[in-house]
Amino acid sequence: MFKSVPHSETLLSIAACCGTPTYVYFDDILSEKINTLKHHLTGLPLQLLYAMKANQSIPVMERMKSEGLGIDAVSPGELLLALKMGFPKEKILFSANNMTDEEMHLAKKHGVILNVGELSRLEKLGKAYPGSEVCVRLNPQIGAGHHKHVITAGAESKFGIPVEQIEAIKTIASTYSLKVRGLHQHIGSGILDADTLWKAISVMLSTSLLFDDLHFINLGGGLGIPYKADESGLPMHEFASKIVAPLQSFIKQHPAKHLQIWFEPGRFFTAECGVLLATVNTIKPTEHITFAGVDSGMNHLVRPAMYGAYHEVVNLSNPDGPLHRYDVVGNICESADFFAKGRMVQQLREGDLVAVLDTGAYGMSMANSYNMRSLPAEIFVDAPCGEWRVIRQRKTAESIAENALNGL
Ligand SMILES: Cc1ncc(COP(=O)(O)O)c(C=O)c1O
Repeated sequence: MFKSVPHSETLLSIAACCGTPTYVYFDDILSEKINTLKHHLTGLPLQLLYAMKANQSIPVMERMKSEGLGIDAVSPGELLLALKMGFPKEKILFSANNMTDEEMHLAKKHGVILNVGELSRLEKLGKAYPGSEVCVRLNPQIGAGHHKHVITAGAESKFGIPVEQIEAIKTIASTYSLKVRGLHQHIGSGILDADTLWKAISVMLSTSLLFDDLHFINLGGGLGIPYKADESGLPMHEFASKIVAPLQSFIKQHPAKHLQIWFEPGRFFTAECGVLLATVNTIKPTEHITFAGVDSGMNHLVRPAMYGAYHEVVNLSNPDGPLHRYDVVGNICESADFFAKGRMVQQLREGDLVAVLDTGAYGMSMANSYNMRSLPAEIFVDAPCGEWRVIRQRKTAESIAENALNGL
């Protein structure tokens, strides 16, 4: 009925030492996810990138680098962090949305290829840097995702250049002698259906036949994971069997030599390696609802408020307790501030430690300090020894107030 909690003893000792709220990331789970994807895509001329927007903590990024992954960077901050960490520039794709001139110049200065999703930016790139190499983000008009806010292709999407505008892309490219080296798509996030992914990939493949000097086709991220005990996630065998052989035979027929296939997942790699630890500090029974208030909230994990996303909540202090129904809510002054509504959880008591599971993607990276509360601490648990280290401290209320006074 519940998902199993990874390394619950370690989580209990981390909370005893470091308190809460705290994000914990397990390197063994992270590595396993990377290897699962590599394994399923064996046989392809593959380059994996990591969509670092999912989780930018340094040890997570280090793991990606040591596994040979590149980076999907979407802002100057992400780009500079990836470069400072030593990711090779050839393995970084700069995909800023509504890219500014300054952002374009920054990426060019560092020799990083731009992923351009607007005709007007393609033209500006051509004017400023005629003859340069570029990747073009397409909208294959097939979108999908766990919530409408994460669908990034299709008629209503702001992302990518619609495939119907290929002729305009080619005209701009030839006017400025731009070399289209890559085609890119990313159709959405949290996709559990292999068929939809394959449909979008096949649009990309047929479109890529119109470009004879490509070096890579980037098929994006979006691979979904199981957030609920009874979900199975994207069926990896089915996904692999749908795409690997067709991609192999496509590459043989394609006019470009040495064509690489890129993917750039975020969630698939990091979601399951992360746990948010929080302490129950208030139990409030009312006529219809028992609220369990914790010392964290939507400022630390916004996915439930933003997408109605499901995250398993487990009582680590009372794992065999009888089940009761709760609204597990945060300490932020918003009614959207919840982790779970009407959820059966092992009986919660004030002082209990709860684990919010699968929070390693779009957890801390979307966190903020609303209500002038600190960000959570972050801990990384190394594989294979299980030793852990603090990678980010919580701020004190004193330092938050001081920083505000000093304009920081
Ligand atoms: C361009 C791009 N690539 C990759 C990703 C990663 O998506 P996911 O975490 O679903 O794999 C995103 C997420 O928003 C994205 O915008």
